[in-house]
Amino acid sequence: MPASSLNLTCTFAFTGVPAFSALWTFLLAASRFSFSFSVFSFFALTDFLTLSRACSFLPLILTVPVPTTPVCYRPIGVVRSPFTEPAQAPRQPQRGAGVEARIELHAGRGFEFALSDIETWRYLWVLFWFHRAESFRAKVRPPRSRTRRGLFATRAPHRPNPVGMSVVELVRVEGLVLHVRDVDILDGTPVLDIKPYVAYSDAVPDAGAGWLGAEAVQDPGPRWHVEFLPRAREQIEFLRSELGADLGTAIRDLLSLGPAPHPYRRIKREGDGFVLSHKSWRARFQVRDQMVEVGALGSGYRARELEAATPGSDSADLSLHRRFVERFGYPGFS
Ligand SMILES: C[S@@+](CC[C@H](N)C(=O)[O-])C[C@H]1O[C@@H](n2cnc3c(N)ncnc32)[C@H](O)[C@@H]1O
Repeated sequence: MPASSLNLTCTFAFTGVPAFSALWTFLLAASRFSFSFSVFSFFALTDFLTLSRACSFLPLILTVPVPTTPVCYRPIGVVRSPFTEPAQAPRQPQRGAGVEARIELHAGRGFEFALSDIETWRYLWVLFWFHRAESFRAKVRPPRSRTRRGLFATRAPHRPNPVGMSVVELVRVEGLVLHVRDVDILDGTPVLDIKPYVAYSDAVPDAGAGWLGAEAVQDPGPRWHVEFLPRAREQIEFLRSELGADLGTAIRDLLSLGPAPHPYRRIKREGDGFVLSHKSWRARFQVRDQMVEVGALGSGYRARELEAATPGSDSADLSLHRRFVERFGYPGFS
């Protein structure tokens, strides 16, 4: 008997379909195979049938019904945030404290009415689709863990259904736009739903900290590598000798937290790069892959403020800035 026929006979027998098994044996006998072979096949089958009866309950045990029907969501809006790359966004909303964003709801679906009374709530749950997540990973190593963890024990984006949930502070509503604060969500993220954060039911004071509590790992250190180009190094050296302060370390500490435009860290876009403000100084930088490249430092004073200052009577800070500009020129960024 060809292997495929034997397989089929076994399949019929094991799946508890005796009528099919008998029919199959008959067909074998009637076909080009010898009678003795089909008789052998029949006796073999009787064993199979006995076994099949004994095993007929197995499918009940082994087959777990899996709901595979796809569920389809239609986004209700989109997030507009300063974070364009996953590495730029904070890991949880609390760590994005102060970061402002907008949730723009789609027009023409009656959402203006769905928004009424929302301003009575201070915090909202935003359910969204991690549209930039890579594929599902059963084990991940979260930033605060030394070991890999089961995905469902984490908040990582690499989920079988990449649904995210963040509590954000509602600042105000303008038409279909919700101005929110404290986001860890990327720009362009599709929003699936919005619900109020209800402290009396959502806040569970004795919730514990899961493996975070057990491991007590400090939040990870800086993730961004900061590099100073020759001109920036020379300027930092000048300021170190004149100012006695290490501006390079301060700039490195600030930028290693991430280069995203950020009101707290005073980072903004300018031209094809970014500018960090630190006290009265500015640092122009570019971002390449996971690296921040500081090209040049500059004065935070306006050119006319520096010109108007009278040498000898201006403040020590202004005087230092003037000397800096005399040596390196006015950088042309504010
Ligand atoms: C650890 S997740 C937590 C998100 C949410 N608070 C949650 O618990 O579901 C935060 C990270 O998700 C990433 N992220 C945010 N929006 C995303 C998106 N649309 N696609 C992929 N990754 C995203 C960012 O890199 C951010 O650092």
